[in-house]
Amino acid sequence: MCGIIGYIGKRKASELLLKALERLEYRGYDSIGIAVVGEGLEILKDRGEVSEVSKTLNFTTLEGNSGIGHTRWATHGAPTQENAHPLTDCNEKIAVVHNGIIENYSELRKELEDNGHKFKSETDTEVIAHLLENKNLPEVLDMLKGSYAIVAIKKDEPDKLLFARNRSPLIIGLGAGENFIASDIPAFLKETNKVVVLENGDYGYVKKESYEINNVEGSADRKVQEINWNSEAAEKEGYEYFALKEIHEIPRTTENTMKALEDLKPYAEEIRKYSRIMFTACGTSYHTALYGKYLFNSIGIRTEAVIGSEFSSVTIGKDDLVIAISQSGETADTLSAVEKAKQRGAKILSISNVLGSSLEREADFSIHTLAGPEIAVIATKTFSAQMLSLYLLYKMIKGEKPETGLEKMQRTVLKLDAEIKKIAEKIQKKENAYFIGRGIGYPLAMEGALKLKEISYMHAEGMPAGELKHGTLSLIEKGTPVIVPLLPEMYDKTISNMEEVKARGGLIIALSWEGDERVGDVASEVLRVPKTGNEEYPLLYILILQLLAYHVTVLRELSPDKPRNLAKCVTVE
Ligand code: G6P
Repeated sequence: MCGIIGYIGKRKASELLLKALERLEYRGYDSIGIAVVGEGLEILKDRGEVSEVSKTLNFTTLEGNSGIGHTRWATHGAPTQENAHPLTDCNEKIAVVHNGIIENYSELRKELEDNGHKFKSETDTEVIAHLLENKNLPEVLDMLKGSYAIVAIKKDEPDKLLFARNRSPLIIGLGAGENFIASDIPAFLKETNKVVVLENGDYGYVKKESYEINNVEGSADRKVQEINWNSEAAEKEGYEYFALKEIHEIPRTTENTMKALEDLKPYAEEIRKYSRIMFTACGTSYHTALYGKYLFNSIGIRTEAVIGSEFSSVTIGKDDLVIAISQSGETADTLSAVEKAKQRGAKILSISNVLGSSLEREADFSIHTLAGPEIAVIATKTFSAQMLSLYLLYKMIKGEKPETGLEKMQRTVLKLDAEIKKIAEKIQKKENAYFIGRGIGYPLAMEGALKLKEISYMHAEGMPAGELKHGTLSLIEKGTPVIVPLLPEMYDKTISNMEEVKARGGLIIALSWEGDERVGDVASEVLRVPKTGNEEYPLLYILILQLLAYHVTVLRELSPDKPRNLAKCVTVE
């Protein structure tokens, strides 16, 4: 969702804010804006991405040592210059940036307009700026309904940034004689790794040498934490796109996870205690949930997986463990599912990649994936890290040792890049692609299709291989790409489904392993990974599927880091 940054200190605020916005763009890139207090309150903002907007607006002409910035993913109001944040009050003395949704904004706006306030945008956020004209921050917060992370700056009080958080993340970054406040740690990670993670209901201010946090109980004491992510992790390091860099980081993530294997043991014990496991997640994380469902059911653990926004339909109770998976730990649909599950007495285990996320705070137990910050909008290394965590838990519960050398095999798979690119060249002009798989190949087919469609805009569908003949087969024509992550499990049946496609002239691209002789008779293209076990293949195939989507996208001259209309972190339901 929207990205927020605030800076207060001795340095030129506009320069630091602009750099932070570049790092925050994965949260939204419909418009950007910066407000700085120097001689007065000055604002520059427009629709478009940082790289485009900064060509026409010279942000660094803004002089001053305190300011706020924003990258927007539009919810209320089209992505226009007027609706870009920061938004101001009637007198242009207060500037506000916001992430989230003010649910009662239309009532508040009407009341304010009746009292003579003049609005300049269609956003829900602008009400906050107008309310701050006559009220102090806690009074304003009392009137707001919904989710928000807010940072505001006032022309008449340039020595402080006001902030408030409710169900949208906000983190203070502590520097020497300067402080930051942002929606995500990577925004200021280059400047400081000392952070204070704010909690729901927290509000207060940040000055250059100090900060104050309050909540309903009065003054709140939040601990200062040191983040061990290095700042390079949030840079491209010579790769053309973050997406490519992050795919290439998968083996390292695997290596780090394997080193911390022991940390997972208590969770494996915990999972055994429940009569049923219910996974919940959204988007790519939901595909991890499906992978987990197959694994756990295969060892007799009754397991289901439900999309976060569909959770209200499930029966859940105190004997159930809900495993909520979310890269960001901030997805509103997943958090809302967790809230419902908790109300009904279920325990929550979270799997997330972001320290101190809302999901972690809601959960009874938390597993951290060790992927480091992921900047591209598409989830790549974090998906792989989530699957690996579930695979390792599954192996522990089963009482088996996990496959060693997975990271080495993943490095071997990365070497298929040139072959994958050639296949991408063959399919890049197609309008549709289908991904089919059986068993744990099915979640992978779903994820392969999602990756391809979300960044290349090629229509793609993933489905169980056996389901193709029940409808979708009518869409297969000569040359239609059908991608098949083949597995030892149900191999013959999957081959039969491939034959059905072949008979209609489909272009079959199979993912298989060294030594699988039969596949070459059916598939037009075969990408082979090192031979391993059924449950391990998804951890190798995923690299191929991600690279395929990546190459198709680049060939279509689109950005794999910033697909249109999407945001990395979706904090609205
Ligand atoms: C957004 C992102 C997806 C992601 C989904 C769930 O829609 O664009 O890439 O899979 O949210 O995100 P989460 O942080 O909960 O894993």
